Amino acid sequence: MVQVILKDVVKVYDNKFTAVKDVNLDIADKEFMVIVGPSGCGKTTTLRMVAGLEEITSGTVSIGDRVVNDIPPKNRDIAMVFQNYALYPHMTVFQNMAFGLKLRKFPKAEVIERVNRTAKMLGIEGLLSRKPKALSGGQRQRVALGRAIVRNPKAFLFDEPLSNLDAKLRVTTRAELKALHRRLETTTIYVTHDQAEAMTLGDRISVMYDGVIQQVASPMEIYDRPANRFVAGFLGIPPMNFFEGRIVFSQDRPKFIMSDSTEILLAESLKSKLTAYNDKQMVLGIRPEHLSPVTSEVKNGNVIPAVVEVVEPLGDRTDVYLTSKSGQKFIANIDPHIKMSADDRAMMAVDTDKIHIFELGKVGKNISLS
Ligand SMILES: Nc1ncnc2c1ncn2[C@@H]1O[C@H](COP(=O)(O)OP(=O)(O)OP(=O)(O)O)[C@@H](O)[C@H]1O
Ligand SMILES: [Mg+2]
Repeated sequence: MVQVILKDVVKVYDNKFTAVKDVNLDIADKEFMVIVGPSGCGKTTTLRMVAGLEEITSGTVSIGDRVVNDIPPKNRDIAMVFQNYALYPHMTVFQNMAFGLKLRKFPKAEVIERVNRTAKMLGIEGLLSRKPKALSGGQRQRVALGRAIVRNPKAFLFDEPLSNLDAKLRVTTRAELKALHRRLETTTIYVTHDQAEAMTLGDRISVMYDGVIQQVASPMEIYDRPANRFVAGFLGIPPMNFFEGRIVFSQDRPKFIMSDSTEILLAESLKSKLTAYNDKQMVLGIRPEHLSPVTSEVKNGNVIPAVVEVVEPLGDRTDVYLTSKSGQKFIANIDPHIKMSADDRAMMAVDTDKIHIFELGKVGKNISLS
């Protein structure tokens, strides 16, 4: 059992900057945990503390059942793969992969056996005598992975390992990584700022912002039930639309009145959650796939009048960029067979069951969750 547990972990750098604020994270044995967040939010710092490359200011990191705060990196029995794989240029692929084993004084026969087996698993057995400069980016990436795998570590730590690959290779390598994890079942922490990687790879995702883990949950839970406005806006392409406005109760039903006085009648199920917010400024969130054009004005007032700015047909769907009466920009993605053109007037119906209501502010709490 190799769970990795971060408890109240804080990192204050020498210049007094607090990069990681009180992170708590339980990564289960065999779990693939993704930490995702924008540049500078503290992902690498967190990973480096687990690896032992960065001192932990306060809190504890445990790997398996021991606290590793004072254990040097080489004795933590974990392998880290970085973005710039840092292969030794003067060594062959075989030597690069064997290096860590030799350092740990593995018998020669076992080194050869492990390197060959891993190379075969990664499909690089034909490259073992080459130097890194004679490899493509994707092949180098595989060698870096191989170097981590041969050691059979207790856990893998990945820091944006695919970001140097081109878009297509990134997608195929992503799928290979997932298959590899299914096979090896090694506990993994994977850092990325790419939401597609996070959604596709993670058993669970930790969304980080400003040194704080904002939410930890399965990919679909994060998507369907974002804990706050930051999480809601970070995952989803195109992102969730946000409208500022006011909650008003009329005839015992909550309404959301946008700044341009467009009214959205909210679902009955939100009533009890919104009573404390009557007449307060709030933010309504709606994903692009929950907006659709209607031809005649719907009487119940769940329609945003807008003008079409840009139409982007993507084949499986069409993204439509719109501007509301008050000049607010928002995006809908619609059935590709519906015809819409730039400068059209449009009435966009809101799927009221899919609305989220947030408190004001960048990390305003989602109060529409139960
Ligand atoms: N040695 C250091 N001294 C002071 N501040 C640092 C140091 N290293 C990183 N930081 C700061 O800590 C914050 C978190 O950095 P970190 O590298 O963990 O971010 P990240 O989430 O990995 O970002 P990216 O996606 O750009 O790699 C940043 O604001 C960064 O400027
Ligand atoms: Mg980083």
